[in-house]
Amino acid sequence: MDKYAITLDTYNKSARQYQDKFMNLDLYNDGYDGFCFLLEKDNASVLDIACGPGNITRYVLSEHPHYHMMGIDLAPCMIELAAMNNPSASFAVMDCRNISSIDQTFDGIFCGFGMPYLNEEACDRLIGDMYGLLNPRGVIYFSAMEGDPSRSGYETTSFSEENKVFIHYHSAAFLLESLEKHHFTLIDLHRQQYPEANGSFSTDMIFLARKVSIE
Ligand SMILES: C[S@@+](CC[C@H](N)C(=O)[O-])C[C@H]1O[C@@H](n2cnc3c(N)ncnc32)[C@H](O)[C@@H]1O
Repeated sequence: MDKYAITLDTYNKSARQYQDKFMNLDLYNDGYDGFCFLLEKDNASVLDIACGPGNITRYVLSEHPHYHMMGIDLAPCMIELAAMNNPSASFAVMDCRNISSIDQTFDGIFCGFGMPYLNEEACDRLIGDMYGLLNPRGVIYFSAMEGDPSRSGYETTSFSEENKVFIHYHSAAFLLESLEKHHFTLIDLHRQQYPEANGSFSTDMIFLARKVSIE
């Protein structure tokens, strides 16, 4: 199995453990609120990429019940849970490397911790693909794990110690450059310390950016 298949297998097998651990985590709610504030609309259409068990969608819908939300994830078990947790939203099993095949556009796009499973080339393409799916002045939120890409490799997770995922670390400079290249203007980059199970801390980067229309 390649690294994508191993990561997918872990998320598929551990979907319920992930849900139990992260469904009600409020650590990132300020970022979700900041994103919704930027949408400036009661009935915004929003795509949730790498939606997992639908935790971001559920929080956002609890605050903004009139949003039209769609979620995608590569793990079928995650999509099953996401649909149960969010009866008013729509979900599909899809690789985030294929989102350009979605035939609708959105006012905003979340990608909460999808990028740690993508190499630099795939992250850059994803940012470009998100641009293509956004309405004018559309907003993106994405989170990534900060570090030298050479640190990337297999790690056990806090929700499934017997299974591994391949984690890609990214530099802020690379992601900022990709945003600029794909015609986004940065609104905020927030760093958040996350306590790992082994007592160390990892640094999460949370980006908010807006689509700039090209004349
Ligand atoms: C850390 S969870 C994030 C869940 C949720 N967005 C959050 O922020 O809590 C990562 C999710 O990415 C999904 N994933 C990994 N690689 C993917 C890919 N290539 N395409 C779509 N989803 C992927 C996994 O199945 C998993 O549900």
